[in-house]
Order: sequence, then C-alpha cells, then structure tokens
Amino acid sequence: MYASFKSIGSYTPPKSLTNKDLEKMVDTTDEWITQRTGIKNRYIAETEQSTSDLAFEAAKLAIKRANIDKSEVDAIILATITPDFFCMPSTACVVADKLGIKNIMAFDISAACSGFIYALNIAKSFVESGMKKNVLIIGAEKLSSIVDYTDRTTCILFGDGAGAAIIGATEDKSKAIIDVKTSADGQFQDFLVTPGGGSKNPCSQNVLNEKLQYLQMKGNETFKLAVNTLTNDVKEILEENNITSEDLDYFIPHQANFRIIDAVGRKLKIPKEKIAITVDKYGNTSAASIPMAINEWYEEGKLKSGNLMLLDTFGGGLTWGSALVRFALEE
Ligand code: ACO
Repeated sequence: MYASFKSIGSYTPPKSLTNKDLEKMVDTTDEWITQRTGIKNRYIAETEQSTSDLAFEAAKLAIKRANIDKSEVDAIILATITPDFFCMPSTACVVADKLGIKNIMAFDISAACSGFIYALNIAKSFVESGMKKNVLIIGAEKLSSIVDYTDRTTCILFGDGAGAAIIGATEDKSKAIIDVKTSADGQFQDFLVTPGGGSKNPCSQNVLNEKLQYLQMKGNETFKLAVNTLTNDVKEILEENNITSEDLDYFIPHQANFRIIDAVGRKLKIPKEKIAITVDKYGNTSAASIPMAINEWYEEGKLKSGNLMLLDTFGGGLTWGSALVRFALEE
C-alpha cells in the first residue's frame, strides 16, 4: 500500500492587515517590509475565531475534494503552535467535534513552521503500514494571538490561516508520495521562542508584564541557517531519490521571507516560474504556510493532478523537512 496526497483545502480569515496599516501601528514602512521580506499583506482572524475555526474550514474543503465521506477519515493530525487551549483538549479533538467525526485518533503536533511536513511524514507512515486509510492532516495557526503588535521586528512577519489535505491509501505507485524527510536540532531552540506560559516559566503577572507570552525571534541568525539548511535538505532528498530539479513541476517552500526563497531557488537553479510565492499575500503562517501555498497554486489552475511537487520547510525548534510529493487529487 502507498500513501497518496489526495486533496488540498485552505482557509484565510477575511480581515487583511497591510503594510500601510502596520505603518500606523509601529515605526516601520511599506518599503522596509517589502524590501526585507517581500510581504505586502497578511490576514488576521477575528477575536472570536480560534485556530480550530480556521482548521475546520480548510478540513471541510480537503475532505470534499478528496471525494470521501467524513466517516471515512480515520485519523486527524493537526500541526500548530497556536492551539485553541494551552494544554488540553488538543485542537485536533476540537476540529473532530466540529466536523462531527467521532471515535478516531486525533492529536496535535508541535514543530512550528515544519508542522505540516511532520504531519505528512506521520500520515505517510500510518497509511503505508496499513494502520490508517484516510488521514486528515492540517496546518493551522492564529499567530496573531502570540504576536506582540508593538514589536516591529516580529509583528510585520506573521499572519493567520489554515491548510489541510487528505493522505489516503492507494495501490497505484504512480500516485504515491515519493519521500518525506524531517529533522531537528534543539541547540538552536532560542532562535524562535515564546519564553513565558509554559512549565519552564508558568503564566504569572511577571510573564505578562515582560510580555513573555509573545513570540521572540533572532531574525538574522535564523535567516542564515534557513538558507543553508533548506538548500542542503533539498539537495539530499533529490539525490537520494535520483530526481533532478528539472524533473520538478513545482517547488513549494515555506513562506517566511521572499529573500530566503529566492536565495534557495538560485542555489538550486530552480526556474522562478516553478517556485510558489504566496508570502506577499499571506505573510508567514507557520504550519499553514505550505498547504495554503499548494491550495493557491491549485486554485489558480497551475497545479494539476500528477504534478511533482517539492516541499521544503524550516522553523522553530529548530525543525526542518522536505517532501517529494505527486499531487493526486482526482477531479
Ligand atoms: N521596520 C523598520 N526597521 C526595522 C524593522 C521594521 N519592521 N524591523 C527591524 N528593523 C531595523 C532593525 O532595528 C535594524 O536597525 P539597526 O540596524 O539600526 O539596528 C535594521 O532594521 C536591520 O534589522 P535586521 O534584523 O538585521 O534585518 P534583516 O534584514 O535581518 O531582516 C527579518 C529581518 C525580516 C526578520 C529577517 O531576518 C528574516 O526573515 N529572518 C528569518 C525569519 C524566518 O525564516 N523564521 C523562520 C520561520 S518562523 C517560525 O518557525 C514560526
């Protein structure tokens, strides 16, 4: 049995936050943000919308497009760093309830921006082992809930959204996910961190006073590591599978910064028209970024069934991962 990438869906909250809006909130300019990051806009969830609401909308679309009934979903894996609840229940359980799916395995994973690729890796293993037949994987984030909108070094980068896919079983090798690689190096854990609120530094008045519940990032250090790690990761997965960058239909990298994507694309000699760019529109949506980009390419009519996608990501932890995936949505 092979695992196949059967569908895609995404959801973006309606309220946009432009660079011009941010100019009124912090000491920044549209020009600075555009030049340094490529970001022009991002979408922000309503106060009453939580991560599970965004995930639910993306999941409904992914289930519909996979042409299966929700009763055929036999596991839900949700990747997020902004769960509905701090400890429990998991956001995957909340989404299962919203979808009306009972008595199946449902759990969250935390791998920051690499979460969707980690979920894909787990789902692939579940399906290939025969343990599950239709795994719903979701990357969903309400990053606006952990962003300090007085900190110009981070608040310009992030947005909210969700993306989802069904990873299903197939006997047809031509539709199989070719390979997924995931990795981590905890020595760089302080590059991206929310210092307060966890068991190391539980929620207290001091945490709130010091704004330790918000995301902090060593942007420059992260940038340099991201370019090298992403490039090496892609080289490895291509070599191990005897695939060249010319064989790829699309390179769909994590959307953190246009300059990172551009540098990796140049190093790997991937033509610009094969590289998905959505960071200008959505900003960095962490675990949702890759499925949102796949969905965008699909809805724009660029991505077709049978196309070979290379996915690549990098995020807090530090974590990273890549995947060679044949898009297998049946129209
Ligand atoms: N507007 C204007 N000026 C700013 C802003 C802003 N929004 N933010 C910072 N600056 C200033 C800084 O204060 C600094 O000023 P100084 O020289 O007087 O000290 C100057 O601009 C340069 O700052 P740098 O941090 O060196 O800017 P850089 O070019 O590195 O860009 C950025 C910063 C965009 C954050 C970049 O480093 C980056 O994209 N890093 C990687 C992010 C990433 O990939 N994260 C991983 C995934 S995220 C996840 O896992 C959740």
